Amino acid sequence: MTTILAIESSCDDTSAAVLRDDKLLSNVIASQKVHEQYGGVVPELASRAHEQNIIPVVDGAVRQAGIGKEEIDAVAFTRGPGLMGSLMVGVSFAKSFAQALGRPLIEVNHLQAHVLSHFIRQEGVGTPRFPFICLLVSGGHTQILLLHSHFEMEILGQTIDDAAGEAIDKAAKIMDLGYPGGPIIDRLAKEGDADAFRFATPQIAGYDYSFSGIKTSFLYFLRDRLKEDPDFIENHKADLCASVQKTIVSFLLKKVERAALDHKVRQVAIAGGVSANSLLRSELQRICEKHHWQAFIPPFKFCTDNAAMVGIAGYFKYLKGDFADISLPPYTR
Ligand code: KG4
Ligand code: ZN
Repeated sequence: MTTILAIESSCDDTSAAVLRDDKLLSNVIASQKVHEQYGGVVPELASRAHEQNIIPVVDGAVRQAGIGKEEIDAVAFTRGPGLMGSLMVGVSFAKSFAQALGRPLIEVNHLQAHVLSHFIRQEGVGTPRFPFICLLVSGGHTQILLLHSHFEMEILGQTIDDAAGEAIDKAAKIMDLGYPGGPIIDRLAKEGDADAFRFATPQIAGYDYSFSGIKTSFLYFLRDRLKEDPDFIENHKADLCASVQKTIVSFLLKKVERAALDHKVRQVAIAGGVSANSLLRSELQRICEKHHWQAFIPPFKFCTDNAAMVGIAGYFKYLKGDFADISLPPYTR
């Protein structure tokens, strides 16, 4: 039996989790509200908030797990990618904590962790079998991955510019809806007509994506409509949210479906912050049912940034004896 303490601090969530093998004992997340008023993450404020949060969050995770610190076998941490100042806080804390306990360190890649969250044991839910396809969609990344094993992730396609979450957040910002825009658009879209407006998606080869054009066409479309009706956004908010959400989700899933067909894969997963989107979840389910594929949709608590996913990635590395040197610096990309 292996007990892992995991730490995540790559962006604006400070999180710590304790896992016993693949079973989650605790997962504490302190989300930083300070960025809302700025309409985006302010790196300097994020690292300061991590510094304030890290000790209470780790302490909370250990207490909620009901274990003593001496029971921890290894400390896993997100090494990157992320914001340098944010990563520094988690990385330095993990190193000192592991050294104080005399336990090994495990470095984890944040993106791999998002994907591996599907392997956290859950009552009544199976885990994917290899090979499977995973659409990784977050505020910083959009990739279609073909997983051959836990750590062999072949990138079939990815965005050539903005990430899907970034495009959704920018659309929300254009409409002045608040930050982060993803959950707000998701909520408002439920009241709207997804076919009210059409936004063109770019023709782009293979399994790659591009989202900057969608954002621009959304901006120009609104600029023209606002000339005729200054209250256009207010009067059509739900329809706009539903339409832009449908545009992005359809574009995402069309390529995922193609990739699964081409690679004869019958299991498809989603991961990352945008996998919390209700349309993405229901549409993936619908496509998988149509083809008699199995869909893997993470519970909400594992979609956005959390340390539980870092812990499961750390557990698989622990089993391989893949430990990190204390001198390893964080990386941003
Ligand atoms: O994975 P994550 O927490 O952080 C990164 O590693 O980037 O993802 C954050 C992204 C943001 O763009 C946020 O707007 C988006 O996930 N997001 C959503 C929803 N919940 C979070 N996008 C659409 N619908 C949601 N319900
Ligand atoms: Zn993330």
